[in-house]
Amino acid sequence: MSRIVYVNGAYVPEEQATISIFDRGFIFGDGVYEATSVLDGNLVDVGAHLARLERSCSEINLSLPWSRANLIEIHRELIHRNNLQEGSIYLEVTRGAADRDFVFPKQAEPTLVMFTQARRYVDAPAAKTGIKVVSAPDLRWARRDIKSVNLMASVLAKQVAAEKGAQEVWFVQDGAITEGGSSTAWIVKDRTLISRPLSEKVLPGVTRASVLAFTTESGFGFDQRTFTLLEALAADEAFITSATNFVMPVVEIDGQPIGTGRPGAATNRLRTLYIEFARKGGALG
Ligand code: PDD
Repeated sequence: MSRIVYVNGAYVPEEQATISIFDRGFIFGDGVYEATSVLDGNLVDVGAHLARLERSCSEINLSLPWSRANLIEIHRELIHRNNLQEGSIYLEVTRGAADRDFVFPKQAEPTLVMFTQARRYVDAPAAKTGIKVVSAPDLRWARRDIKSVNLMASVLAKQVAAEKGAQEVWFVQDGAITEGGSSTAWIVKDRTLISRPLSEKVLPGVTRASVLAFTTESGFGFDQRTFTLLEALAADEAFITSATNFVMPVVEIDGQPIGTGRPGAATNRLRTLYIEFARKGGALG
C-alpha cells in the first residue's frame, strides 16, 4: 500500500501527488523545510519545529498562510492515515509556482507538501554499534540557521561520506567543526558535553535544545563553544543529534576510533533519557 501524502490541501496516494514544474522550490530551491519525529504515533517537539519553520519563513520573507494549529492537524492526519508509529514527517513550503524570474513573484500561492517516513528509533541498529563520520570542508552558504531546501553541498559531502563507509559528514570551517551534514555535532570530554553555540553558521537543532534541557538532571556539564577536529579526535565520546537520529553515538572520525571505539556511557545515557523525553512528546511541545 502506498503512502498517503499531503499536497496543497489534498491527501492523496503518493503516486498521484504532483506539483508544478514552475514551482520555485524546484527551480531555485526557494523554500524551507522541517522534519519532525514521531514516536508511539505521537509528534515529538512539534511546537519547536513549527516555531523554527515560522522563523525560516520570516527570514526569507515568505508569509506562511497556515496557522500552527492547521499544520499540527495535517501532521496528525498523516500519522493517522499512514498508521505511523515510529518515523518522521517531512514538511516543505516553497514560494510557489510562477514564471521563472529570480525576483519574488507578485502573485503566487506558497506550495505545501508533507509526507511520512517510517523509521526505527528505539531499536535503531546503528545505536548499538555507533556510526562513522568523515570530515569535509564546509562549503555551504552563510545562513545555515535557515532550514533551506538548498542542500547541494550537504548532498555531495554526504555522498562522499557514504562512499567511504561513513554515515555522516562533519563539516569543518576555520579548523572548527560546524555541524553534521544533517545533524548537530557533539563531543564529550571529562563528563562535559561540548557543542558549538548557535549562530548563522549552524541550524538551531530542536533535538539539541531538548538534550540541553535535561543535561543538568543527567549530571553532565555543558560547554557551549566551538571545538576543533583535533579535539574531537581526542574526545572521550562523540555523538550527533537530529530528529531523524535522536542521540546517535559516533565511534569513528576520519578512520580514527573515538574513545574506546564503541558507544560511550554518557552518550548511551543521553540516548535513553532522550527516548523517555520523546515518549512524552518532548518538553518543548
Ligand atoms: N536535519 N543541522 C543540520 C544541518 C540539520 O539538517 C539538522 C536536521 C540538524 C538537527 O536539527 P534537529 O535536531 O532539529 O533535527 C542540525 C533534518 C533531520 C534533515 O535534514 O533531515
